[in-house]
Amino acid sequence: MTEIITLDGPAASGKSTLASKIADKVGGFYINTGDMYRTLTWMITEKNLDLEADRSTIISLLKELYIHYEKCDENHMQLICDGKPVDQKKIRNPEITKKVSQVAAIPEVRDWMVKCQRKCTEVGLVVMEGRDIGTVVFPDAHYKFFVTASPLVRAQRRLSQDGEVTENATVEKVAEDIAKRDELDMNRKIAPLKQADDAIFVDTSDLTVDQAVDQIVNFVNEKKSSIHA
Ligand code: DC
Repeated sequence: MTEIITLDGPAASGKSTLASKIADKVGGFYINTGDMYRTLTWMITEKNLDLEADRSTIISLLKELYIHYEKCDENHMQLICDGKPVDQKKIRNPEITKKVSQVAAIPEVRDWMVKCQRKCTEVGLVVMEGRDIGTVVFPDAHYKFFVTASPLVRAQRRLSQDGEVTENATVEKVAEDIAKRDELDMNRKIAPLKQADDAIFVDTSDLTVDQAVDQIVNFVNEKKSSIHA
């Protein structure tokens, strides 16, 4: 069975930074499923498709599209869409961020995406982050974490990330946008953001990145010893 470490949690909770560092530490591959939803949102935007009026065209698009992670060197995977590496600048900008939760709420999109995500684990140990990885994509994963931080800390972190927010954005405005996205992610009908019953809760508000990474890696190592004892 493929070993998977899952990190779920709300927007700007620090999951991406942690998941990528944890992957380096445990010798696994880092996969960001939010970027997969963002890539699809970017494709829809490029094609000028309206999320409501063009719903059936969006669903048909999925039949000919393939978004996946592919090994690009010994330790890393790269996000590929239609055979080409995805440009982070195109998917991590305010326009895409504003729409992505609506795209991720389309049931057919989620079914399709879960299949794409399950295929990404053929390489070996994977650290996968998202909203429903421990609950829906890999409910049988041995190592599950739910990562969060206070709304203020999350807004401050997002504000400090280059290109992710509009120019002149304030902490209050960023916090408001994050809250809107949380609301959509937590209340959608299919695979809403929630903590898996068997996930470990990690509040990173008062932790440095290294402290949070160590806490999670220690849990993984302890559980691994108990599984293999
Ligand atoms: O992690 P992120 O903020 O880049 O994710 C972008 C959006 O994608 C997020 O608002 C909800 C959606 N998403 C999801 O529904 N399920 C996932 N596993 C990952 C992301």
